[in-house]
Amino acid sequence: MDHIFSSSALHITLILLTICKGISGATFTVINRCDYTVWPGILSNAGSTPLDSTGFELPHGGSRSFQAPPNWSGRFWGRTGCTFDLNTGQGTCLTGDCSSNQIECSGKNANPPATLAEFTVGSGGQDFYDVSLVDGYNLPMIVEPNGGSGSCLSTGCITDLNQQCPAELRVESGQACKSACEAFGSPEYCCSGAYGTPDTCKPSVYSQMFKAACPRSYSYAYDDATSTFTCTGADYVITFCPSLSSQKSARDTSPPASTANGSETGTGSGVGPIGIDTSWLPSFLTGISPSAVSCSAWQFNLILSAISCLFLSSVYL
Ligand SMILES: *[C@@H]1O[C@H](CO)[C@@H](O)[C@H](O)[C@H]1NC(C)=O
Ligand SMILES: *[C@@H]1O[C@H](CO)[C@@H](O)[C@H](O)[C@H]1NC(C)=O
Repeated sequence: MDHIFSSSALHITLILLTICKGISGATFTVINRCDYTVWPGILSNAGSTPLDSTGFELPHGGSRSFQAPPNWSGRFWGRTGCTFDLNTGQGTCLTGDCSSNQIECSGKNANPPATLAEFTVGSGGQDFYDVSLVDGYNLPMIVEPNGGSGSCLSTGCITDLNQQCPAELRVESGQACKSACEAFGSPEYCCSGAYGTPDTCKPSVYSQMFKAACPRSYSYAYDDATSTFTCTGADYVITFCPSLSSQKSARDTSPPASTANGSETGTGSGVGPIGIDTSWLPSFLTGISPSAVSCSAWQFNLILSAISCLFLSSVYL
């Protein structure tokens, strides 16, 4: 019976638990620490099941969570200065508007300029995520993985770039900052035409200004080497207007560490012997709770995966 407590059995169990968590998808929690109301927008990519909302109001201090299935990909952003008519529900936003004329964006994308948090959730493997300023900037936003294994760095932009935005990129209200591509439309800034490859599209003075203010964010189309992050089996917290004092760790302000290669930095299977926590359990159970009224295909798969994971785990335990 010694083997029950042997490190290899423990290791295999931890690997199984992490894979089980990965198969259950990811929980996204959106938090508003801005001293103003933000109306987050959510766009699921083609082929991904939409989340519970595509747009909603989030007052100062508010938060809301969403469960995303495995393989989900899409983006989150913040709309500011919105007014929606109490009777008709119709309205628009000053920045990040999605042209739906409603509080829900219903499959419509953010109009630039808008800070974007982009995700691809793995299916037992790595998640990919980044914060992009390629379509400009409208508010500070960071993404922090919670749990999970691999490099799992937080990314985003703590700085209020609107304060530093050069006049030629500033939108009239001064509440957002255009990308050079949007402001000037030239192939050089848009990485199009002759500039359509990583070799020919170089950082511009403008993208460098974005990069200096937000070192971990995507500042132009081919900026991926330092800007895409990976983590396996994590949940994610997306915070608008994180304040410096509220950061969980100082590493958010340091330059990107070992990810500067653009290659995937997670360990082979994406599973490490350390850094595994048990926070997967509640969301794992939430994911299979019968409170989900409509049982879609992925939820059905999730239940099957959960049962096989538990079975495998019990064999090894
Ligand atoms: C996720 O995508 C992969 C590759 O396309 C596929 O093999 C897998 O079945 C998908 N998982 C779920 C739960 O949809
Ligand atoms: C990038 O990764 C490759 C192997 O994946 C390695 O040979 C190279 O030295 C790395 N470059 C840097 C700058 O870390």
